[in-house]
Amino acid sequence: MTTPALEAQGISKRWPRTGAVLADCSLRVERRTVHALIGASGSGKSTLLRCLGLLEPPDAGSILVDGVLAVDQGFVAQDRSVRRSVGMVFQEPSLFAHLSALANVALAPHRVLGLDPDAARNRACSALDRVHALHLADRRPDELSGGERQRVAIARALVMEPTVLLCDEPTSALDPLLTREVMAVLRELALDAGTTMVVATHDLDFVAAAADSVDFLHAGRIRMSGTADLLGTRGLDDELDRFLQRS
Ligand SMILES: Nc1ncnc2c1ncn2[C@@H]1O[C@H](COP(=O)(O)OP(=O)(O)O)[C@@H](O)[C@H]1O
Ligand SMILES: [Mg+2]
Repeated sequence: MTTPALEAQGISKRWPRTGAVLADCSLRVERRTVHALIGASGSGKSTLLRCLGLLEPPDAGSILVDGVLAVDQGFVAQDRSVRRSVGMVFQEPSLFAHLSALANVALAPHRVLGLDPDAARNRACSALDRVHALHLADRRPDELSGGERQRVAIARALVMEPTVLLCDEPTSALDPLLTREVMAVLRELALDAGTTMVVATHDLDFVAAAADSVDFLHAGRIRMSGTADLLGTRGLDDELDRFLQRS
């Protein structure tokens, strides 16, 4: 059996003030596949992604990225190369306002990987190209549409060549037209480029078209797992039925 890109076992987390948010979540994401997280608002999708992205320590559980232990019984590895192996795209892209799209994307290759400025820029150009944003390289964030900003943020994550790209509702701040533009890019990265992704999304059309596996979260637990066919089922689980009916 090949090593999965990402494997999480028994992830649990409580917030100090609000209590339990994740209970015993386990998942396995094979290389070159797309794993979707679906579930109502508040079900724990963002918290799970932040744990998988090594941004939030879980209280318990372990996470392996490409077979390397990144979180062991709740403790996050400090090893930088493990941290770099997960890329994250958030709901709201947070680009540096005073830098061009190209400079935003070239920053980490230069500062973190230590590439010289030309090499960092070259690498940033090819990442921008992958999200069809090379023509926007010289624009500052305020000169971009919301969808273009999000594509630049995707390029900024891709430029580090992560083992897995984690996307937290990447289009929930966008109107339907811009949503289509961003989801089309993610779909292309998934289907054509074979990028390994975990995507929390309400976009069930995207899940149906691009996801190889799906987890349905409810109240911090992975309540149902399966392929995208899960979306077409009725009567397997009351909560899933309710969720699908509302979506
Ligand atoms: N930083 C935080 N501190 C305390 N509670 C939080 C924090 N972030 C999220 N929560 C709570 O955890 C639960 C799950 O939230 P979240 O992971 O954001 O779910 P989703 O992304 O599915 O909407 C919610 O009840 C939310 O209020
Ligand atoms: Mg969320």
